[in-house]
Amino acid sequence: MTPELPDRGEETLDPEDWESLRELGHRMVDDVVAYHRDVADRPAWRPVPESTRRVLRQPLPREGEGAAAAYASFVEHVLPFPYSNIHPRHWGWVNGTGTTLAAFAEMLAAAMNPNCWGGEHAASYVETQVLEWLKELVSFPGAASGVLLSGGSAANLVGLAAARDARAGGDVTDGGLRSLGADPVLYCSTETHNSVDKAVALLGLGSRALRRVPVDGSWRTDLTALRQALAEDRAAGRRPFCIVANAGTVNTGAIDDLDALADLCEAEGLWLHVDGAFGAVAALSDRLRPLLRGMERADSLAFDLHKWLYIPIEAACVLVREPMDHSRPFAPSASYLSTLDRGVASGGTFFSTRGPQLTRGFRALKVWLSFRTHGTDVYRRLVEQNVRQARLLEDLVRGADRLELVAPASLNVVCFRYAPPGVEDAVLESVNRELLMRLQEQGLAVPSSTVLDGRFVLRCAFTNHRTRRQDVVALVDAAIRTGDEIPA
Ligand SMILES: Cc1ncc(COP(=O)(O)O)c(C=O)c1O
Repeated sequence: MTPELPDRGEETLDPEDWESLRELGHRMVDDVVAYHRDVADRPAWRPVPESTRRVLRQPLPREGEGAAAAYASFVEHVLPFPYSNIHPRHWGWVNGTGTTLAAFAEMLAAAMNPNCWGGEHAASYVETQVLEWLKELVSFPGAASGVLLSGGSAANLVGLAAARDARAGGDVTDGGLRSLGADPVLYCSTETHNSVDKAVALLGLGSRALRRVPVDGSWRTDLTALRQALAEDRAAGRRPFCIVANAGTVNTGAIDDLDALADLCEAEGLWLHVDGAFGAVAALSDRLRPLLRGMERADSLAFDLHKWLYIPIEAACVLVREPMDHSRPFAPSASYLSTLDRGVASGGTFFSTRGPQLTRGFRALKVWLSFRTHGTDVYRRLVEQNVRQARLLEDLVRGADRLELVAPASLNVVCFRYAPPGVEDAVLESVNRELLMRLQEQGLAVPSSTVLDGRFVLRCAFTNHRTRRQDVVALVDAAIRTGDEIPA
């Protein structure tokens, strides 16, 4: 028996006064346009003041304050303190800029609010179309399977789940990890992103199953070391099943010799997974595509749309060459999900059999609307523009006697540090830490950091369509000026 519930009449979250909500919506659109239009006039970043943090720590609002008051609070306390990646001088980690148009697309997607698990409705066809376009952009076969996901981490997880279940030597879906006889092992380089560690842990393989092999002088997977590791594992009775190749490492943008890795996988019967989180997108450019030769031979390819395609967070894609391999880990059946000959549960593509999510948002719309609006040629030009900006930074750093280039721009990533002659490494580390924090706190620019060969460096990844050459020049001036101000 369910408990007695008093009847208080019926309610809805729709407004009684549609007109005032419409007016507020128009104000939101005006505010978004101004926010993006004037972004370069604001600091690249500023800390959230304590007074604002207090406002953002309120008790659960049992009674609503109304849309106008809630929105006013957002404008005052949230909007002024963005993460920084919408700003032209953000080059930290690997974050895309987003666009105003795609922000509107997010609103349209939420307005339609479809569940993109599959079924017969327009959003399914939009996602299918976007996947077709993405396959073409990265030269993957039309028959390959794909799905849009939250990010590169999820895309690596799905690609590696497919790899495990196809090649690790047992029927994991049925028998669990016990069904994998010999120790399964997979390989990546010391420069591979930590989302691969997470995936390997989540897939139950254990971090010891992931062999990290050294890189060569250009930060690319060392093929000799990889062959040796493979031979040692085979000799010890283990079961190599997959190589994870890098199409753009997070630290330096290095691209592995993908063709050679594809040859090796073919010869050894291994799955080739390529993490192309941002680098895969360089395939748009005729000039850059040769760097990625072999990527199109991967069994699975993970790449983000919210990095170098400037789509707002979250959006990524995984492509898997063999559709059966893709759906194997994700296709348990359930009576309540069965399809029908007609109606909503007919037709379309069942994306829920291609990843861990059942209920899925309409991520495809922001990509579809962006590609249709701008055309992919402009994305190609922007990718090339970012690479030119990385080279400009490299040149400026080379030309500055108090800066040291630590990793040249192999693609769109540059690592450097403030290093006046005669200062020892231990001191340089604390100076560069301080320098980075000052650049960010003063709102001048947002590089991030990493450690290369034991050296703490400032790291700039150019995936920003708002950056202009003068921003790069300003960064170098600010780095020298600020570095000079820090007592060594
Ligand atoms: C090379 C590489 N792989 C994977 C990822 C993870 O992608 P995401 O942050 O979209 O989950 C990143 C993120 O920067 C990356 O640079």
